[in-house]
Amino acid sequence: MKKLRCAVIGLGMGRGHVRGYREHPQCEVVAVADIDKKKLEEYQKAEQIPEVFTDPVKMLKKVKPDLVSIVVPNKFHLPLTLAALEHGCHVLCEKPMALNAAEAQIMEVTAEKAGLRLAVNFSSRFSPQAFAMKKLVDEGTLGEVYFARSIWQRRRGMPGFGGWFGTKALSGGGPLIDLGVHRLDLALWLMNYPEPQWVIGSTYNKIAAPIAAREKKNFDVEDFACAMIKFKNGATLELEASWAGNIKPNEMMSTRLLGTQGGLYQFNPDGNYEFQLEAYVERGGCQYDMKLHPPVPESHSSYYSFADAIINNKPFSVSAREGVVVMQLLDAIYESSATGRPVELP
Ligand SMILES: NC(=O)c1ccc[n+]([C@@H]2O[C@H](COP(=O)([O-])OP(=O)(O)OC[C@H]3O[C@@H](n4cnc5c(N)ncnc54)[C@H](O)[C@@H]3O)[C@@H](O)[C@H]2O)c1
Repeated sequence: MKKLRCAVIGLGMGRGHVRGYREHPQCEVVAVADIDKKKLEEYQKAEQIPEVFTDPVKMLKKVKPDLVSIVVPNKFHLPLTLAALEHGCHVLCEKPMALNAAEAQIMEVTAEKAGLRLAVNFSSRFSPQAFAMKKLVDEGTLGEVYFARSIWQRRRGMPGFGGWFGTKALSGGGPLIDLGVHRLDLALWLMNYPEPQWVIGSTYNKIAAPIAAREKKNFDVEDFACAMIKFKNGATLELEASWAGNIKPNEMMSTRLLGTQGGLYQFNPDGNYEFQLEAYVERGGCQYDMKLHPPVPESHSSYYSFADAIINNKPFSVSAREGVVVMQLLDAIYESSATGRPVELP
């Protein structure tokens, strides 16, 4: 059987995409592109990549992959996604989908017109705990979900001053668009993406700004963001994200859902990337606590799952539309912070 020919653009997190595609027996990684020639050559040698390119568009032209991962600084998500679609490739684009919702919409419409798949790598959905949570919500264990609180805070975790992450023109924003985007999507997915009504948000740059100034490095994004999103169905979502904040854990990730018949809490108790999941329910007038114990539900990575969806012509869990909605919410949070007013969504 012919294998799905996958290519990856960008060799930071892109290395994870290569590993993910290689886990699928019907996928092969045929090429990788990165503007850094030295990195590219070392990686090709270490990982036996058939072809490497310093120009991603040349790669698309010459190799014509079936599926391309876009794993480059956020500013390049739009042009490289459009280039990949133009060359007939399905696209898995890293989060955030683009610098803003207007760009994300162009990507969505172009993919639709081309009849190709475009998905965003909301990888937080692809953990065993996330699958277990989704199952509990969808089978009604929580009743009506009316509140969620989703957090990704770092005590000190700024990804280097002077780089693209801290430069708004390249990244579109700080921890909100970098970390918050994952926890926002996770909560929205669990709540079945209710239609947003209005947003109020605040961003701050209190801790990183003075350090960047001392080091004479650019840092023109926030280091902390918080928001409240009200949905048309009456539900509310609170979001917090930071690269710097005076909290106890080095890294704190959690998503909490409250429903009329139960609640869920996914969290990383030890400040690392190991999650636990607890559920709290009321049955027959009594309160019960539950905990997810091994064996956890089987789960595959987003890369494996996206490739598998293309190979077997199945739906994939993340849509371009969801990527656009997330960008609309992030835009609204930044706008609300800039104006000091709530922002109504259309
Ligand atoms: N889903 C996740 O969990 C996750 C984790 C990390 C990063 N990301 C996302 O992945 C993307 C890349 O982040 P990163 O941490 O890998 O950054 P990085 O800076 O570590 O790596 C980016 C790579 O892209 C290359 N590059 C830059 N511009 C390019 C271009 N125009 N064409 C080809 N190559 C180019 C750079 O040389 C570099 O090797 C970002 O959108 C980020 O938000 C997602």
